[in-house]
Amino acid sequence: MLQRQNPANDSLIVNINGRLVHRDEAGVSPFDSSVQNGDAVWEGLRLYQGRIFRLEDHLARLRSSAAALAYEGMPSDETLVSELRRTLAANQMHDGVHIRLTVSRGVKYTSGLDPRINQRGCSFFILAEHKPPVFDNVHGIRLITAKQRRPFADVLDQHIHSCNQLTSILAKLESNAAGTDDAVLLDTAGMLAETSSTHLFLVRSGRLVTSTTRACPEGITRAAVLELCEVLGVPAEVRDVPAAELVEADEMFVTGTMGEITPVARLDSASFPVPGPMTARIAAAFRDLTCDPAQGTVMVDPLASRPPR
Ligand SMILES: Cc1ncc(COP(=O)(O)O)c(C=O)c1O
Repeated sequence: MLQRQNPANDSLIVNINGRLVHRDEAGVSPFDSSVQNGDAVWEGLRLYQGRIFRLEDHLARLRSSAAALAYEGMPSDETLVSELRRTLAANQMHDGVHIRLTVSRGVKYTSGLDPRINQRGCSFFILAEHKPPVFDNVHGIRLITAKQRRPFADVLDQHIHSCNQLTSILAKLESNAAGTDDAVLLDTAGMLAETSSTHLFLVRSGRLVTSTTRACPEGITRAAVLELCEVLGVPAEVRDVPAAELVEADEMFVTGTMGEITPVARLDSASFPVPGPMTARIAAAFRDLTCDPAQGTVMVDPLASRPPR
């Protein structure tokens, strides 16, 4: 799905290592590891009524990705939370906001790959945008199965939530060429991994089925859906899902912070009801969860004045 430019984002203030600047004056160093090597980790967060949904889980995933890459000088959670608050306040944001929080290995003293030439600690970047869920959650999305595959951890551990997103970008190019909204990636054994940026669930005879995370990251939304299944008494299976099983699904949906719960209308030549009854049930339960104050960290002063959007 092609995201549209939103004029509300034309004058955004972004956060570069604690400096709040206009988006056109961001000034990331060409010596930064994110630019040099794509050596950075990131989280996509969503703000609901002044609270970031499951922020602690996102920060834990960020920290574990940074630890897997042996980053030194990682900013503390307190620093990141306080910088997120400053950024949201500077943009007077409250709801319908997606935030990209990136931490890189930092600035190198000379161009190169070796982490030993990084001696200044990590860099961080915060980009908060006015961005409601990006997919068409009413009519659903169309997918193809990409030729591009996802590797296992012995090639590149997908639990490192890295800015190196090349398998996803190559799959997305295939999807764009086919005129669909996104692509499904299989792992190198031919089992379901995920789409370019979301996890995929099938519904079969009243049960939810999703892949393991052996070739995709853990997902905050995926975890929430699996928890909701327990609460709602919906049986759920996490297992290897062969490609052939996908087209036999009664319903299909994808999950992610960017788009929440999105029904799939089509995969290759198979079509699915949109939204199917189970997808609608899970989507409604997830919406309720995001409204639950216990699920979010307060980021915005509730009394702060806000411009109308
Ligand atoms: C590759 C990939 N898969 C799936 C997801 C969805 O994860 P979450 O539900 O935590 O947003 C993301 C989000 O960042 C992602 O980058």
